[in-house]
Amino acid sequence: MSVASAPAAAAGQGGSVPRHVAIIMDGNGRWAKRRLLPRIAGHRKGIEAAKAVVRAAGDLGIEVLTLYAFSTENWRRPADEVSDLMGLLRKFIVDDIDELAANGVRLRIIGDYQALKPDLVKLIDDAMARTASNSRTTLVIALNYGSQAEIARAARQLAAKVSGSGMSLDAITPEAIEAELYTADIPAPDLVIRTSGEQRLSNFLLWQAAYAELMFVDTLWPDFGKAELAAAISGFGERERRFGGL
Ligand code: IPE
Ligand code: IPE
Ligand code: MG
Repeated sequence: MSVASAPAAAAGQGGSVPRHVAIIMDGNGRWAKRRLLPRIAGHRKGIEAAKAVVRAAGDLGIEVLTLYAFSTENWRRPADEVSDLMGLLRKFIVDDIDELAANGVRLRIIGDYQALKPDLVKLIDDAMARTASNSRTTLVIALNYGSQAEIARAARQLAAKVSGSGMSLDAITPEAIEAELYTADIPAPDLVIRTSGEQRLSNFLLWQAAYAELMFVDTLWPDFGKAELAAAISGFGERERRFGGL
């Protein structure tokens, strides 16, 4: 994931399929608004899109798919929308874990999901344990995730090692920081896609995306599916990655 490991990532790319695709699923609210529907209808359709994209990722040979589901800033939304989103997430875990498990999906969470309601935390922990030995696709859900909070947490953990167990200041390297991130054992994203036409990262994988290819598409998330993912992969295959070298 570090710059030092970049040549291996470049060699593995082979002009084809990215190993790790990370998606900022945006535009559910606008999708609903255009149809004069409540925002939750857009979020519901957004879950359907997510399920289709997880299936497609497996078919396309993507090893890791990260989906940004709820940011640390999304708590600023009205309480009823936050509760709708948590309800949909709970329903997704309960209803769809069997299909995910049967399709060889391993579930991982990044972000402070343990701060969520205890029953939801338990459902998530059970789903992760149940799929832990699957290896076809790793589905990483970014939940109560924010890059800045993640990096601050890494800094706290390193500071504790310096003051508590005698870690030397010189040992605070990019690799040491990476080892404290939620993504420590996940390869860096090769491709970050954001739907809905917005061109910003909104506190998503700021460290990990240091050398990711960024792709902004106008499609609203509920309309994103296998064909759109395949088009993004094919666009990625035409990009030239350099990692600072020549
Ligand atoms: C993305 O859709 C879903 C989440 C952020 C949870 P939005 O809800 O942000 O949709 P827009 O941006 O209002 O259209
Ligand atoms: C980013 O989308 C967060 C998720 C997709 C979960 P937002 O819709 O919250 O981002 P901003 O507020 O437009 O930057
Ligand atoms: Mg949005």
